[in-house]
Amino acid sequence: MSEPSTLVRAKNLVKEFSPRGGIFARRKGRGVRAVDGVSFEIQRGETLALVGESGCGKSTMGRLLMRLIEPTSGEVDFDGIELLKANDADFRTIRRRIQLIFQDPASAFNPRMTVGAIIAEPMRLAGFSRERCRERVKELLPLVGLADFHADRYPHEFSGGQRQRIGIARSLAVHPEFIICDEPVSALDVSIQAQVINLLTDLQKQFDLTYLFISHDLRVVRHIADRVAVMYLGRIVEIGDKRAIYSRPLHPYTQALIAAVPLPEPGRATSHTRLTGEIPSAQNIPSGCRFHPRCPYAMPICHERDPATVVTGDGRQVACHLVSQSLDIQPQALEPQRM
Ligand SMILES: Nc1ncnc2c1ncn2[C@@H]1O[C@H](COP(=O)(O)OP(=O)(O)O)[C@@H](O)[C@H]1O
Ligand SMILES: [Mg+2]
Repeated sequence: MSEPSTLVRAKNLVKEFSPRGGIFARRKGRGVRAVDGVSFEIQRGETLALVGESGCGKSTMGRLLMRLIEPTSGEVDFDGIELLKANDADFRTIRRRIQLIFQDPASAFNPRMTVGAIIAEPMRLAGFSRERCRERVKELLPLVGLADFHADRYPHEFSGGQRQRIGIARSLAVHPEFIICDEPVSALDVSIQAQVINLLTDLQKQFDLTYLFISHDLRVVRHIADRVAVMYLGRIVEIGDKRAIYSRPLHPYTQALIAAVPLPEPGRATSHTRLTGEIPSAQNIPSGCRFHPRCPYAMPICHERDPATVVTGDGRQVACHLVSQSLDIQPQALEPQRM
């Protein structure tokens, strides 16, 4: 183990999906770079929020971290073990230690299975006895705010919020340490969102969980996040402490995302950066800084050179020429995001 406090480390991760076949197969195939050279760490016990518009690569990032898909290049370490090089036994153990909660858990539930059987499924796959599964389901239901008798019901009998609770119970079944929450409340009403987020926060404290919390909505992650990573077209453009990001966003994209949601943040410098246009396709990443076509501050260099990631005084990392210039960071002090 290199650093005891780091649980997850992504190093220069790239995921390029090969061009789809079908009627477009004869067109000159260009792959989709969904994740394009991303490095970050997640500390044990923290919540790192991953935010950005739909299509920017958040889910792909989450799937890479648990090796549900293989990266084109780059590495993922979990607790000091390199996922891509782990032997079968290590990998099986890691798979148990990392769980995923996603937006619509019901789509993964077998409608003919009872809630008890759904929650117990990961345990059965891990070889737990029937008796242990039954006992664990009994423990889990009250932990997520459900009752004993719910174990015998079927998923269609539950509301969206309750189904997400079932999904959470299922993800906790095999005592994971790291949970990737991919838009877990995006399909729920605002009032229910808060309840599910509170539940996740309580469970985190109770079981020392580490979260990657993915959301396209900055309002949603505001309470749960310790740090925030802002993703744009396959890259992390800014990452840092939540308070710093919300009160003084540095990257024009982060500024625009924050300006778009009314957040009562004391002492927040008001930003008038507005986001115009749509996120370009990951098949056609703009030259230079990939955000330049939508950036109100774009300078000539932004059309030409991909900005390196710089570390600011408060420990934040930002990839923006304007920020580097205003901080007067010399080019030799810059570290390239992709090596
Ligand atoms: N299996 C796949 N095959 C081809 N392209 C994909 C696949 N999965 C995702 N993509 C593409 O990768 C990009 C990022 O997608 P995704 O990670 O789902 O973004 P997000 O979760 O931020 O909405 C999108 O352009 C999407 O169309
Ligand atoms: Mg997604």
